[in-house]
Amino acid sequence: MMDLFETRRVAVFDAYGTLLDVHAAVRRHARAIGPEADRFSELWRTKQLEYSWTLGLMGRYASFWSLTERALDYALAWHPAVDRTLREPLLDAYRDLDAYPEVPGTLKRLRAAGIRTAILSNGDAGMLSRAIASAGLAADFDAVLSVDPAGTFKTDPRAYALVGERFGVPPEAVLFCSSNRWDIAGAAAFGFGPVWVNRTGLPDEYPDLPPLRVITALDAL
Ligand code: LAC
Repeated sequence: MMDLFETRRVAVFDAYGTLLDVHAAVRRHARAIGPEADRFSELWRTKQLEYSWTLGLMGRYASFWSLTERALDYALAWHPAVDRTLREPLLDAYRDLDAYPEVPGTLKRLRAAGIRTAILSNGDAGMLSRAIASAGLAADFDAVLSVDPAGTFKTDPRAYALVGERFGVPPEAVLFCSSNRWDIAGAAAFGFGPVWVNRTGLPDEYPDLPPLRVITALDAL
C-alpha cells in the first residue's frame, strides 16, 4: 500500500466511523436498551448524518454535537420502550467513543515514514478534542480539522478545502480515508485520493465516484 504515498504525503482521516466506533456508545448500554439496541444505534447515526446533509442543502449550519443530540432524541422517540434516562449516559458514552484497535499503531507507523496525518471531521472542535484525548490519540495527528470554520458539512467542497488551507497542498497530494462511502464520494469529487475502509463488507455505491482502494481496516495502509 505504500505506493499510495509516493505522491501523497498527507493522510487525512474521517473521525466518526473511521477512527472511532460510533456504535460503541450504544454497545456500552446494550443490556439496558434491550433487543432494539442495534437498530437504535443505526437510527441515531442515520439521523445525525441526515441532519448534516439537509442543513447543508439549506445553507444552514449547526454544531455536529447538537445534531448528535437531536438524532438521539429522535431515536428515543422512535423507540418508546427504551428508557429515556439513558439519554445522558448515551451522550456521555458518545463523548468518549472507542478507537478501532489498529488505529494507534497505523498512525504511528505512517508518521514514522514521514507522512503527515490529520483528521477532517464533521465533528466540532470540542467533541473532537475530547474524543481524541479519551481514545489516546492526541499525539498522533499533525492537525485535527473540524468543518466548523467552513460553516458547512462534508460533502460540501468547502469542507474538504480546509485540508489544503492547513497543509498548503493540492487535493491530489492528499490520501483521504473514510469508512463512510458517501464521504469517499465527496473526497473523490474534490480530487483527493480516497481509500474506503469497508469494515463490514457493505455493498459499493456512488459508481461514478470510486475509491482508489478498498481496505477492511486501517492497518492495510
Ligand atoms: C465525521 C463523521 C461524519 O465527519 O463521520 O467524522
